[in-house]
Amino acid sequence: MLIMAALTSCGSRVTTVMVIPEPASVSLSGKTVAADALLSISAPSDLALEAQVLADGLSREAGMECRMASRGRVRLSIDGSMGEEEYGLKVSRHSVVLRGGSAKAVYYGVQTMLQELRSYDGCLMCGTIKDSPRYAWRGFMVDESRHFFGEEKIRQTLDMMASCKLNRFHWHLTDAPGWRIEIKSHPELTSIGSIGCHTDPEAPSAFYTQEQIRDIVAYAAERHIDVVPEIDMPGHASSATRAYPELAAGDAGSFTYNPGKPEVYSFLRDVLSEVAGLFPYEYLHIGGDEVFMGSGKWAEDPYIKALMEREDIADIKGVEAYFLRQIAPVVDSLGRKMTAWDDILELGSGKCGETLTWWRQERPDHLYQGLRDGYELILCPRLPLYFDFVQDETHTSGRRWKGGVFCPMDSVYVFPDRILDAWGDAEASQDGILGIQANLWSEVVRTMERYDFMTYPRIFALAEAAWTSADNKDFESFSKRLEPIYELMDELGIFYCDYRDISKHPEPKI
Ligand code: ACM
Repeated sequence: MLIMAALTSCGSRVTTVMVIPEPASVSLSGKTVAADALLSISAPSDLALEAQVLADGLSREAGMECRMASRGRVRLSIDGSMGEEEYGLKVSRHSVVLRGGSAKAVYYGVQTMLQELRSYDGCLMCGTIKDSPRYAWRGFMVDESRHFFGEEKIRQTLDMMASCKLNRFHWHLTDAPGWRIEIKSHPELTSIGSIGCHTDPEAPSAFYTQEQIRDIVAYAAERHIDVVPEIDMPGHASSATRAYPELAAGDAGSFTYNPGKPEVYSFLRDVLSEVAGLFPYEYLHIGGDEVFMGSGKWAEDPYIKALMEREDIADIKGVEAYFLRQIAPVVDSLGRKMTAWDDILELGSGKCGETLTWWRQERPDHLYQGLRDGYELILCPRLPLYFDFVQDETHTSGRRWKGGVFCPMDSVYVFPDRILDAWGDAEASQDGILGIQANLWSEVVRTMERYDFMTYPRIFALAEAAWTSADNKDFESFSKRLEPIYELMDELGIFYCDYRDISKHPEPKI
């Protein structure tokens, strides 16, 4: 029985609860209350959605309907004196009081209750939980250009993210293999650009219509998850230049747009305007990574040569910086904060945009420089937060750093404590660190089985790393609290990597 597992320590006061992420403070009396004693909820109208999510959970556990009532056994409220993501939960034998600083915070309290109900056979533990996150940005990225997974998988991902209080979904929607978002002003992006994937250039067209995008963004919003779209530029653009060869630096399908052509900027303005119309969240990611993979011949291109002469630009890096300086005001005019990979720090362009996703663990200087330059930083270094890296010594499909180092769940769990401990003389304040994020790149993730295997349960380690203070983290305790989540994943048919017995779910091939 899981209840017994949780009640083994600390005499009559228990200071942990079977929930991931571990809350900031827990004090339990050792008593429990069953869902069927809590089948009425009162909540103000601005918490109707949160109340319904809880009512559904209580009804499911009790096998009887939980109703809304003016004086319910469970009372939800917003408390303006609390932080935006802070909640407090007080559970007694006869009632529950859940207060939060916003609807989002109350939603998190509801998620804590739902996990408890699962962990304790339909009961809540009596006592008090006070909780708030370590980081504001708790993100997960999925690359659907290399391989396309579709609405159902993304909705399930959002459900799982919400259950562990992750709050940013970074959606990598365009890259070389395929363009995955309908843009009405440029229909060939999808009629041509969406054909193919990383493992099959002739794979059937796959993309999201604008209606589907709106539905998924709304689905995420109901779960208090903001969606950050990424439209990668000026590199990783082959799907767009295949569809519109006139935008290419070189032949159709070239890796980069042509920064020397004015029509590239009007095209990107059209694209970004439609994107901003679909994604209300204030951050918009424009990529900016690995442009060197396609800029080698820029200096020979007549349009780029003319640009360099006209603007007195000395070298290719200067052209890239020029490109960025054209795009930044477009994003700004759309009311969005421009986000890019940390590669843009190499351009000497001056500060361009607001936020950087720092991905190269071997370049801590970029992390420090980004902070010194006044960017907000999202930490998502390959080691340990690229979920396309393998997670066990015995695994053979997937990436490793320099052929060896991989990303097991405990390395995700301890992030970012070690790098913060080593901060020392970094000459940059950590205040600009918004949070952390894991990235599921999909060159080596083709099937749903493999998507699951690479994502779960590492995403729960990510959630605890992002939410729980360093002092409160304990990998052994986390591993125990994962038990009911393994059961949930079994019920949902998720093909996770089983850390309890690594041979139980064999590694699916790419
Ligand atoms: C990246 O992995 N190219 C951001």
